Amino acid sequence: MSNDCKKAYITTPIYYVNDVPHIGHAYTTIIADTLARYSRMIGLETLFLTGTDEHGQKIQEAAQKRGKKPQEYADEISAKFRDLWDYFDISYDKFIRTTDEKHKLGVQKAFEVMYEKGDIYKDNYEGFYCVSCETFFTKTQLIDNEFCPDCGKPTSIVKEESYFFRLSKYEDALLAWYEDKEKCILPKAKKNEVINFVKQGLHDLSITRTSFDWGVKLPESINDPKHVMYVWLDALMNYITALGYGTDEKDMDFWPATVHLVGKDILRFHAVYWPAFLMSLGLELPKHIGAHGWWTRNGEKMSKSKGNVVNPREVADAYGLENFRYFMLREVPFGQDGDFSQKALIDRINSDLSNDLGNLLNRIIGMSGKYNDFVIDSSDVLRFHEKEIKEAEAIIETLPAYLYDLQLNRYLEELWKILTLANQSIAVYEPWVKIKEGKKEEAMALVALVANLLAKTALMLSPVMPKTCETIADALGFTINHEHYRRLIEEKALLHTFMIKKVPPLFPKIEKELLKSEPKTATPASKETTKNRLDKEGLITIDQFFQTKLKIGTILEAEAVAKSDRLLKLKVDLGEPEPRQIIAGIRPYYTPEALVDTQVCVVANLKPAKIMGHLSEGMLLAAKDDEGLALIRPEKRKKSGTPVG
Ligand code: ME8
Ligand code: MG
Repeated sequence: MSNDCKKAYITTPIYYVNDVPHIGHAYTTIIADTLARYSRMIGLETLFLTGTDEHGQKIQEAAQKRGKKPQEYADEISAKFRDLWDYFDISYDKFIRTTDEKHKLGVQKAFEVMYEKGDIYKDNYEGFYCVSCETFFTKTQLIDNEFCPDCGKPTSIVKEESYFFRLSKYEDALLAWYEDKEKCILPKAKKNEVINFVKQGLHDLSITRTSFDWGVKLPESINDPKHVMYVWLDALMNYITALGYGTDEKDMDFWPATVHLVGKDILRFHAVYWPAFLMSLGLELPKHIGAHGWWTRNGEKMSKSKGNVVNPREVADAYGLENFRYFMLREVPFGQDGDFSQKALIDRINSDLSNDLGNLLNRIIGMSGKYNDFVIDSSDVLRFHEKEIKEAEAIIETLPAYLYDLQLNRYLEELWKILTLANQSIAVYEPWVKIKEGKKEEAMALVALVANLLAKTALMLSPVMPKTCETIADALGFTINHEHYRRLIEEKALLHTFMIKKVPPLFPKIEKELLKSEPKTATPASKETTKNRLDKEGLITIDQFFQTKLKIGTILEAEAVAKSDRLLKLKVDLGEPEPRQIIAGIRPYYTPEALVDTQVCVVANLKPAKIMGHLSEGMLLAAKDDEGLALIRPEKRKKSGTPVG
């Protein structure tokens, strides 16, 4: 994807209606939705297509099993997909169904064009067929001479008259395309798999069936009524029939597609068969085909037939739709598989969203209210913080490339660096100290810096979390739209004035899993933490040490925690707008009275936790031996919040 043209055409696969949607389908659709929203924000005329794939043996059999007519059954399940996307606020512009009359006419037209070109011929097919994958195989491709190499299910022998597409003719042209267009298939590793497949040689493709009738008939000009189109020929054509190919041609100016998003299970159809069909039709090839990995449970691909699916509506209802969107895109590198776990989802919400993003907004609201009646003016930002602004702009400049390469996890990772910069700036410049020292101008310049960083982040995050970012923008007193994108991102401007509005916390912390059943498997998130492990000798680097933020705190209040003879509840001033509540197990060694107004050393960046039902937002350092426990205190009195290290 790139912005070198004025139009963008983004597609999802059209999903089979043999299955109700699960989080795998939601994943592809959420990626596509994010790209479509981004593309609209940067000012491209955008068409985002999704839909359902309703023909073929698999659907006919699924309907039969339920005692329904295929059309009736397809109507039912297609509506379920559409309802889910509406419930998920997916911004699709068109929802295509392969049973749409216009689609069928377009497919017939395409068949005629390919036939007239001499790319289609009639012969007999003998081979094996996997109904579940709707794919033909030769005997040598099967596992144990019987099972589908893709899904492992038994295949059936097919012996029937069939029309064939001269796929073999396009072998060289396909290889030339892969070679010529570096990013035609993303990610690169997947592209290499496709190249290797094609290099092994392509067989002509059977493109009609006669043993059942739930499909698009051949064009009348061919006059062979016992044949229906092979479902993949029918399905792939949706990307052009949705634009009016073969009928009104109304939206053909959106062709070629900017990006077809697919799962890796169907990459071959999109990266080999589809471009060959397009070449035969004399149409341009899509700019990108992006293949993502699978969502698994316990390492197995999630699919209805395995009974291991996670219902996306349930997850979204429990954890919040946009939190779920953020999680899916941030958690797994594009192209790789990811195991779904609630623990990983909760970690992302509590750490990335609540700590890094939500708290930042709260702090801006708090400081602007306290220091300047909820008005922030950016006039002094560049005078005091040019360095930070430059740093943020440098990060923002790198973002589009990640998105165009579909590396949404990297996009978000980099975007989060702006939030880190904002949070660090508050810690470093300590506006509350500046206020106490009477340097209000400096304090407000810092608050304005942070507000601008958050505004820019909200714009760039909005394609992933649209409603949340609208709320953030609303709290800051601006709106997310193309005009603000142009000014704040493209032109690197600052928002001159912020009129701050109070909003409730955006991401309340989640204490425990909200859905009942949960597989016990490792997640990519838990793997990531291994990079923080000690080296062999148990030594750490200075950087690792400084990951722990130690600060001097002044104890303002202390009281016993009811029903505990060990715990004290403390209010500790760390030089922040609000004192922290810390629960400490020091009651056997100190009376509350003896602690008030003394100073201690506090671990300030510990994840908040609940101890006997009380929130604890830090930990005191202490040394304990046989004779008891002693708090670690500064040798001389220091300002609250002074860093230790
Ligand atoms: O293949 N993890 O439809 P389909 C990630 N009709 N993504 C998953 C997934 C999982 N566990 N399971 C499904 C078809 N998907 C054809 C497509 S297009 C012209 C025709 C997603 O209902 C992923 O995008 O089997 C995958 O490619 C798609 O659903 C397959 O959907
Ligand atoms: Mg499938």
